[in-house]
Amino acid sequence: MKLKKEQWSSKFGFIMAAAGSAIGLGNLWKFPYVTGTSGGAVFLLVYVVFLLLLGIPILLSELSIGRFAGMNAIDSCRKINAKWGFAGSFGIVGAFGVMSSYCVVGGWVIRCIINAVTDTNMNAEFFGDFSSRTFEPILWTFVFIAITCIIVSGGVSKGIERVSSVLLPILFVFLISIMIYSLSLPNAIEGVKFFLVPDFSEINGFSDFMRIALNAMGQVFFSLSLGMGTLITYGSYLPKNSNLASSTVTIVVLDTLIALIAGFLILPAVFSFGLEPTGGSGLIFQTLPVVFSRMKGGSFVAAIFFTLVLFAALTSSISLLEVIVAWICDKTKLKRRSAAIIVSLLIFAVGCLASLSNGAVPELSFGGMSFFELLSFISDKIIMPLGGFFICILVGYIWGIPNAAKEISNDGKLKFGMKWLFSTAVRYIAPALIAIIFVTSVFSFGE
Ligand code: PFF
Repeated sequence: MKLKKEQWSSKFGFIMAAAGSAIGLGNLWKFPYVTGTSGGAVFLLVYVVFLLLLGIPILLSELSIGRFAGMNAIDSCRKINAKWGFAGSFGIVGAFGVMSSYCVVGGWVIRCIINAVTDTNMNAEFFGDFSSRTFEPILWTFVFIAITCIIVSGGVSKGIERVSSVLLPILFVFLISIMIYSLSLPNAIEGVKFFLVPDFSEINGFSDFMRIALNAMGQVFFSLSLGMGTLITYGSYLPKNSNLASSTVTIVVLDTLIALIAGFLILPAVFSFGLEPTGGSGLIFQTLPVVFSRMKGGSFVAAIFFTLVLFAALTSSISLLEVIVAWICDKTKLKRRSAAIIVSLLIFAVGCLASLSNGAVPELSFGGMSFFELLSFISDKIIMPLGGFFICILVGYIWGIPNAAKEISNDGKLKFGMKWLFSTAVRYIAPALIAIIFVTSVFSFGE
């Protein structure tokens, strides 16, 4: 197929690449544990509502800005209005923050693969012990960043598309198989109930509900890679005849499907083995090894599972590093490789602090949160929603719905039936929701 160099080679390839950025640790690691600590099914309900009211409109807005302008995040926003480059700049700061904690978790995943291959006697204690050590987690953090850096240094647009197109379908099949096993465990139904049947009596007042809402909003932004310029950049590689609205829906459906499968995989196993769903960020690393250790050929399955998690994480981390590197290459004379190495080293420095704050140096904590938790709080609950807020204002009021609709409908060639819904969400619902939740959370921070 002969196409211009800077475009995706097929619709399938673009969907896989964009879904590759979206699907990652956010779905497989974060979604199950945040669901566990945020009230199970109540969280799921709020999450789905936010997907519709925030996720779809903002994702569609970002893709249309990118395809319209055809440039990096900051310059694309600037093309719409010369004073609005800052709306894209959230991505640069946010990507740095997200990557600094993402690489620590990526390191844990690599350690789990090695553990599965070398240690047949997997147990739940291993992870707690490992993640609070001083040097070992830092070493694996470094390995994860180094792999990301090498791929980004070499240029990724073809690579991302090809790798994601093969790996995502494999990930899908594998996750479903392990999910079926997990659902067949004794007492698994308790996990299913926790995940699907809302128990509103568990919510202790308004501030507890706002905590759940903030977690759900943060998860929607994090999981769909919103407010970070990634989708503006990916949208800029789209051909003009692509269907933005249907691509948006497909990406959201795929991302949500993987998150749901991860929930159905982890939570039933947690209940079946009598573990706590509120265990926090170690959930996938503590629970799954126990599940695998009871399976026939469990080490083999564990090795494959964590390898797939690693690939899913890499397709996301590449997109994060790429946002920063592409911008630096545009603004300075630095070569792609040098930019990738410098940024990776800076991320590694912050990542080391994040890793140490998990136990080795407990003093690295602020307002009751470890530095690791603080990084993810700032990026997915402050920077990403703020980025999303400004994208809504830019599209809804500065660029204007008629112009956005013109781009989305390919100059009127495609039907854009949900225009009024898109308009209402982008102009009123999404900015208002983000503002309310944001302000409430900032005021309750540290309470
Ligand atoms: N969406 C990714 C995940 O769920 O793991 C994380 C991520 C990637 C967030 C890229 C933001 C981003 F720009």
